[in-house]
Amino acid sequence: MSSQSVDPAKSLTGTITLSPDKSIAQRAAIFSLLHKGPSTIHNYSQAQDPQTTLKCVESLGARVEIDGDKTTIYGVGREGISALSDELDCGNSGTAMRLLSGVLTGAGLSIKLIGDPSLSGRTMTRIITPLEEMGAHILARNGAFAPLFISREDPLRALEFTLPIPSAQLKSCILLAGLFGEDESCVIEPTPSRDHTERLLQLRVETDDQGVRRIYASKAHEIPAQNYRIPGDYSAAAFWLVAGSIVPNSVITLPNVGLNPTRIASLHILKEMGADVKIVKDDSDFAEPVAQLTVQSSELTGVDIPPEWIPNAIDELPILAVAMAFAHGDSHIRGAAELRHKETDRIMAITKLLDGIGASYHEYDDGLSIHGNPHLAFDSAHFESFHDHRIAMASAVAALLGNKTSTIKDAEAAAVSYPEFWSHLDLLRA
Ligand code: S3P
Repeated sequence: MSSQSVDPAKSLTGTITLSPDKSIAQRAAIFSLLHKGPSTIHNYSQAQDPQTTLKCVESLGARVEIDGDKTTIYGVGREGISALSDELDCGNSGTAMRLLSGVLTGAGLSIKLIGDPSLSGRTMTRIITPLEEMGAHILARNGAFAPLFISREDPLRALEFTLPIPSAQLKSCILLAGLFGEDESCVIEPTPSRDHTERLLQLRVETDDQGVRRIYASKAHEIPAQNYRIPGDYSAAAFWLVAGSIVPNSVITLPNVGLNPTRIASLHILKEMGADVKIVKDDSDFAEPVAQLTVQSSELTGVDIPPEWIPNAIDELPILAVAMAFAHGDSHIRGAAELRHKETDRIMAITKLLDGIGASYHEYDDGLSIHGNPHLAFDSAHFESFHDHRIAMASAVAALLGNKTSTIKDAEAAAVSYPEFWSHLDLLRA
């Protein structure tokens, strides 16, 4: 386990090619497995979670060929999926475990899903209950945690399922199982969560006057080949949007960032806080908007995040908390209890980060109020990543405003989504 030291920064300037989008890469791998025939994906991610998912789809029968920046995945189709090993290791990835549980239920394979200590501590009840309604038999540690032993002897039953929480992993899990059914399954989504699954699989979606979405899946739906270039990860961009805002004299350019509307609430929040971000649309063959972002230093003011924006900003809340700590006035994050069920309890982890820099805050069960101070001064802070990539990177950005060198324990966690993060930080300082 490595500790990383981070020196204060006087300015950050340069252009960064972000790591490819983690959510899209993992879906690209799984959907390519389900498509019968080759899918050609450019810019597949080298980060740990997408690499884990790629290994899992190989263990389910896909052949993977890599030629420079081109990854070809020869999918076997829904009928051809087979278990080449009796265990799938999902590592740190909730997306892999939850989406693949849907595939395995649909395919009716008997297999064990395992994960690292962080993933094994995250509840799987949210997927176990509906998948059992669809006919799966799932044995889980204490009824809720990995390892999960999934099998299905009963016929697959279609499900109409209203999401009890706005979770794209849960939505995708049920839709993937539904894609194996004779009858149509339907996921009803009262509050939008990221919609990469329905876009990339071209699923039928109906939206009513209240904005409630119904998404349909059955065996009759043809799985399209996944031929595209994966854009840069907006969730990675968010670290630089905040760093570029709060470190004086900075200008950071981020080309090819995926700007799926269901992912970028934090961009709206930062702009509301006074961040200076310019957006220039890029040409791209991808089914979602892609743009170049340029951020310059600016003074930030506190913000009250509307609760309905939380699901579309969920992964960016740790770095937004850093922006809030250095803003004028108070900020409020409420309705974010889901943060306690991420790679670590992120509300707890954010409070430790804020303690490290001497920021004042109030913790709630479902969020935080942060009392910002643009003149917040601290010397050497000692941060813990809690083995969580986003906490490691948010801590690094906070450390840039210290008076002395800070350290981050277990900083290698960043590689889960953004292995180049530390070298990109060096590049921006140069
Ligand atoms: C993800 C969905 C989100 C997000 C995670 C990736 C996905 O989780 O936090 O990092 O790829 O579908 P939930 O859907 O559980 O909120």
